[in-house]
Amino acid sequence: MFTRRQLLSSSLLAPLVALMPSAAQARVSTAAKKTKVCALTAIPVGTGKVFTVGGAPYLISQPKKGTFKAFRASCTHKGCFLPSPAVGKITCGCHGAQFDGLTGKNVAGTQKHPAELLPNLAPVPAVQVTVDKTSVYLTV
Ligand code: FES
Repeated sequence: MFTRRQLLSSSLLAPLVALMPSAAQARVSTAAKKTKVCALTAIPVGTGKVFTVGGAPYLISQPKKGTFKAFRASCTHKGCFLPSPAVGKITCGCHGAQFDGLTGKNVAGTQKHPAELLPNLAPVPAVQVTVDKTSVYLTV
C-alpha cells in the first residue's frame, strides 16, 4: 500500500504530473481579456450600440456623461442576438421582448410567442467596461 506522498512522487505519475498545467497557468487561460472596442465619441451620452468582441455581441451605453455600462447582447429569453437600441429600447427580433437600451433591464416580456408569453425576463448580464481619455474597453 502506498501513501499519497509516495504515489505522487513515484515515477509512474511523474510524466502525468509534468503535463498538468500549474494553478497559475490555469488561471491565465481562463482570465478575462481587456479589449479596446471603440472611441469614446462612438457612444454619445444617452445612447448605446452593439459591438462584437471575441465573436460575441455586447451592448455598450453611456446613460450619463462619463458613465458607461456594458451588457452581453443576448436575449435572456432564448438567447437571440439583441440589436443596437432604437429610441432607448432594445427589441428582440425573435419573440419581441424589450430591454432598456441604457441599463439592460427587461421592460417588456415576450410578445410574439403565444404559447409562451412571459411578462418579465431577467436583465441582460452586465460585463466590465472601462474608459480612458479616448477609448472604451471591455473585459470579457
Ligand atoms: S429570444 Fe428574445 S424574446 Fe425570445
